[in-house]
Amino acid sequence: MTRSKIVGFERELPEFTADNFDLSKIVDTSDEWITSRTGISRRHISTEQNTSDLCIAAAERLLKKAGWEPETVDLVIVGTVTPDYQTPSTACLVQAALNLENAFCFDLSAACSGFIYSLSAADKFIKAGGVKRAVVLGGETLSKITDWSDRSTCVLFGDGAGGVLLEATEEECGILFEDIHSDGKKGEALTAGYRENRNPYFKGEPHGGKFIEMNGREVFTFATRKVPESIKHVLETTNTSPDDIKYVVLHQANTRINEVIARKLKMPHEKFYSNIERTGNTSGGSVPIALADMESEGLLEKGDKIIISGFGGGLTWATMLIEL
Ligand code: COA
Repeated sequence: MTRSKIVGFERELPEFTADNFDLSKIVDTSDEWITSRTGISRRHISTEQNTSDLCIAAAERLLKKAGWEPETVDLVIVGTVTPDYQTPSTACLVQAALNLENAFCFDLSAACSGFIYSLSAADKFIKAGGVKRAVVLGGETLSKITDWSDRSTCVLFGDGAGGVLLEATEEECGILFEDIHSDGKKGEALTAGYRENRNPYFKGEPHGGKFIEMNGREVFTFATRKVPESIKHVLETTNTSPDDIKYVVLHQANTRINEVIARKLKMPHEKFYSNIERTGNTSGGSVPIALADMESEGLLEKGDKIIISGFGGGLTWATMLIEL
């Protein structure tokens, strides 16, 4: 059976960081409030780069490290809700910058689950046989859709991108199983980027909603209920004991969410990797950035079984069991 093997991890973060003290000069907040509620101390914020720049830098290093020639890439997917343009897609911008002339390319919108949804889509193309090599990225410049006067949201988010290469293999490794869901009826709990219709015939009322708006409590309840259910489902269906899982890499939204999920799963806290303290919530970027950080910290080894799980706007949530 053909599977999708994961070849390398990379990430790109803007150089500039703002810590909680910096933000307390912009809005009425404090380091104590932010760290105790979220676990975040600082976040990277773009001062020059757009989403495509971050994605291109991560993809370029991935290809170089793996020694893949540009023309051997068949597919590029970018999970993002902050593309540079609506068209061309961020994935097409990556293609152009890196001369991936034989690839077909598209963006995928699933907010903080965007990278795992993108991995799932790429995996299907590989299993269907038409694609042998794919570049899968998750990247955001959330700072451009953040309301910098709203203290309840602006302290939570950061910019960054990460990604992996996927390659067709007949080995029993890579993406082993997935569990993917959406609940559009709860979408109003977390919205951003509404675009007004300004045509001369339009009679509707102005809508608002350009920037991130969130019912924090509702999102917290959703994540701490659905994510443990999803992870349990993946473990049970694949007959995998939690002891066989080396790490659980959750979307880095909030330390408290991840602590509740660890408790509900009765898994040791040390298995839950976290870099949120220094990145904030980078939405589609968070899981691949965490994986790249884990690799550079020497935490990942061939044969490791890892759970990755994303959750957020849509609402969407998605869990995967992968073997390195
Ligand atoms: N600094 C100081 N005070 C703040 C603040 C900030 N940055 N943001 C909000 N507050 C205030 C509120 O105004 C409120 O004040 P009030 O009681 O006087 O009205 C108070 O803190 C409590 O606000 P509340 O929203 O109830 O806080 P909370 O304990 O629910 O924590 C979140 C807020 C956002 C941290 C929490 O709901 C959460 O983590 N939700 C999940 C969000 C998330 O991770 N979303 C992304 C998922 S992809």
